[in-house]
Amino acid sequence: MQERLPFCALRPSKGNGGLMSANQPVRLTMVMLLSLSSLLISYGVGEICCSTVPGYNSTDLLSLLDFKRAIISDPRQALSSWHAGIPHCQWEGVTSSLTHPGRVTVLNLGELSLSGPVSPSVGNLTFLKILNLTMNGFNGELPPLDRLHKLQQLLLRDNSFQGTIPDTITNCSYLETIDLSGNFLIGKIPLNIGLLSNLYVLRISKNNLTGTIPPSLKNISQLLLISLADNQLTGSIPEEIGQFPNMWGLLLGGNRLSGKALPSNFGDTLPSLTWLGLSSNKLEGHVPVSLGKISGLETLDLSFNNFSGHVPISLGNLSGLTLLNLRFNKFNGSIEGWFGKLKNMTVLGLEENNFTGPIPCSIGDLTKLRKLYLANNEFEGPICSC
Ligand SMILES: *[C@@H]1O[C@H](CO)[C@@H](O)[C@H](O)[C@H]1NC(C)=O
Ligand SMILES: *[C@@H]1O[C@H](CO)[C@@H](O)[C@H](O)[C@H]1NC(C)=O
Ligand SMILES: *[C@@H]1O[C@H](CO)[C@@H](O)[C@H](O)[C@H]1NC(C)=O
Ligand SMILES: *[C@@H]1O[C@H](CO)[C@@H](O)[C@H](O)[C@H]1NC(C)=O
Ligand SMILES: *[C@@H]1O[C@H](CO)[C@@H](O)[C@H](O)[C@H]1NC(C)=O
Ligand SMILES: *[C@@H]1O[C@H](CO)[C@@H](O)[C@H](O)[C@H]1NC(C)=O
Repeated sequence: MQERLPFCALRPSKGNGGLMSANQPVRLTMVMLLSLSSLLISYGVGEICCSTVPGYNSTDLLSLLDFKRAIISDPRQALSSWHAGIPHCQWEGVTSSLTHPGRVTVLNLGELSLSGPVSPSVGNLTFLKILNLTMNGFNGELPPLDRLHKLQQLLLRDNSFQGTIPDTITNCSYLETIDLSGNFLIGKIPLNIGLLSNLYVLRISKNNLTGTIPPSLKNISQLLLISLADNQLTGSIPEEIGQFPNMWGLLLGGNRLSGKALPSNFGDTLPSLTWLGLSSNKLEGHVPVSLGKISGLETLDLSFNNFSGHVPISLGNLSGLTLLNLRFNKFNGSIEGWFGKLKNMTVLGLEENNFTGPIPCSIGDLTKLRKLYLANNEFEGPICSC
């Protein structure tokens, strides 16, 4: 088990909408950065048999037995190694500490078809650095987090967890990655989340969260990815979120966010942005000229909002853009200045706006285009026969 942790540690599987699927250097750096901790944890583990080491501590053994007892269904018998005849540091998915024999540092039980509640005793595994229950059928409340002071990765994506995200999550001050996407969580994002000063990745998309995006997030300026898409969040996007020098993904689509988005200096303050998803909200404002400076931008989705004004010619500088979705907004003006320059475009949506003028002949240069939506605008002139 342990041997498989490094380098694939944070690479999400295919089900995440392809967010990290490309081999971009930026992404790779992030994956490596975030898996460094697991690398260190897992190095050398395996030879030491926890129950034979002097000073062995059985506290965590009891918590693990509680965890197993609470599980209702284990159709693949993934936990068959979890029995008294085998030292618990050799159980499937369990890694224990080198310096504190018997204390569990990693619980890695992703994609094992396990279901049932998570025993609150998991909250007693106070040496835990990684809790990975990704893609199972766990339900009920999130386990208590307030004593997991060493936790670095909380990976509970795609389960059926209910209830709220406890404010005590901020007690886990070493947290680097939070992924709670794809559950049934309700309530607000903890207001003090900004206290998690080591956080790089915050993913809580596809839940039922309400309330606003906490302004305290602005305190975590090293954030690389914020994904809060497909919840019921309201209010505006705190302006400071647009000022993170390393941020490569900001995904806030499918909420009820309102107000003016994309301040005029947006392109200066988010130089590393690769993916901007704001679709299906009630956002308004113009696309600033500075957006054309974000040279690594690949996906820009502003569809189904109230954005308006001309699309600046500077957009034509974004030669790496592969998806541009402006459908169902109130944009106007001509598209001639930028349209034909976006040579890597595969999906281009301009449908349901007030764009005017001709559809430029340079459309013929967009050789990678697979989907083009132009309906319901005020384009005029002949369809170019280049
Ligand atoms: C095991 O660790 C727990 C928690 O740190 C501690 O309370 C307990 O005294 C330890 N037990 C032994 C036998 O060292
Ligand atoms: C976990 O800790 C709680 C108190 O914090 C205690 O009541 C419970 O018995 C502990 N469970 C195990 C398995 O140690
Ligand atoms: C967590 O589990 C998922 C699903 O099995 C796996 O893809 C991922 O690599 C695991 N992450 C870590 C840090 O162990
Ligand atoms: C969690 O943090 C709060 C506030 O920072 C503190 O009062 C509390 O004692 C902490 N709880 C634990 C179990 O460490
Ligand atoms: C979200 O909440 C609404 C109303 O509170 C409910 O109708 C809906 O089923 C919930 N969706 C999920 C995914 O929990
Ligand atoms: C955010 O940072 C400011 C100043 O650095 C600090 O005063 C404040 O307590 C922090 N708030 C949170 C919620 O992290």
